[in-house]
Amino acid sequence: MQPVPAKLTIGTVTIAPATVLAPMAGVTDTVFRRFIRNLGGCGLIMTEFTSADGVLRKKDQKAKRYLHFYEDEHPISAQLFGSDPQVMAEAARIVEDLGFDLVDLNLGCPAKKVVKCNGGSGLLRDLPAIDKIFAAVRAAVKIPFTVKFRAGWNDEEIVCVELARMAESCGLAAVALHARTREMGYSGNARWEWIAAIKDAVKIPVIGNGDIRTPEDACAMVTQTGCDAVMIGRTAPSNPWIFRQIQQYCAGMENAGAGNGHVGTAASGCPVERSSTGFSHGATRSAGRPTLSPTLRKHGNGAADVVSCLPRIRRCLRLNLIARSSRPRQISDHVA
Ligand SMILES: Cc1cc2nc3c(=O)[nH]c(=O)nc-3n(C[C@H](O)[C@H](O)[C@H](O)COP(=O)(O)O)c2cc1C
Repeated sequence: MQPVPAKLTIGTVTIAPATVLAPMAGVTDTVFRRFIRNLGGCGLIMTEFTSADGVLRKKDQKAKRYLHFYEDEHPISAQLFGSDPQVMAEAARIVEDLGFDLVDLNLGCPAKKVVKCNGGSGLLRDLPAIDKIFAAVRAAVKIPFTVKFRAGWNDEEIVCVELARMAESCGLAAVALHARTREMGYSGNARWEWIAAIKDAVKIPVIGNGDIRTPEDACAMVTQTGCDAVMIGRTAPSNPWIFRQIQQYCAGMENAGAGNGHVGTAASGCPVERSSTGFSHGATRSAGRPTLSPTLRKHGNGAADVVSCLPRIRRCLRLNLIARSSRPRQISDHVA
């Protein structure tokens, strides 16, 4: 088995280790992202998807909230969706001015509301339209521009390899594939062979996504597909230590490879030190298993589901954030 690479370079940005927190609407806000970042082991975090039209609307509070981040979140990527190349380009410029390290285009969202407006996975049926968006956004920003997409609309319309080639020839810096079609939604198994096919077709970095639940899964994806980084979505809220566990597991593999006789640590036994969290209500260590501090345990169901106690984590962290002097960047500062 191959370990997850220790780093990845996307354009000018170094991602170390080569693990990415997947964008998740309603989950990956600044509080959750910082929670993950402070636990350690996650190389890149991403905002939830944000409407490019919303970014341009001066009074859109939602877009403002989605693009709100703090200095300790670097490197961070902002994900946008939309179908108008000029609107996308202008929104990407604003994202760059806000200080994001990367900008990402969403071509994977299966939600009807988004698809109806030709956004998200809706565009997968119109490659010429995607080409125009790629060109407009690429010309608008200097920061690395990436795209996250699904394999196609359905099994009869698989476009992922063609799309990855298009991205490369338009100057995008990396691609990420959620290895399912739009029609699959979240059902069935992610088809990692599609990630391998993209990796064979392009030279820019390929980020693999879909169904990673354990460090072993992460290494299996790298081994089977050759991908340059792994992206993790749904596992993160239920096991926010997953990134750190992957890092420790891979360090163990490398030690074993170096003849130290030390094998990768099993996912369930991976310790997490309290000091790594950076805030007082975070993880503590209990008999080598990750668990939550008494404060969080009181409000949630042990370490099993951090999502259930997110509102309280948010409140704790907000106090922490208010105490800091750094002022959040606001879109309104940048919209004329
Ligand atoms: C609640 C939820 C919200 C999501 N929101 C987004 C999003 O805003 N942008 C995006 O590109 N993908 C989104 N996704 C898809 C994930 O980024 C990821 O591609 C998918 O969950 C597969 O990865 P996983 O098997 O590791 O969860 C979302 C997924 C979930 C479960």
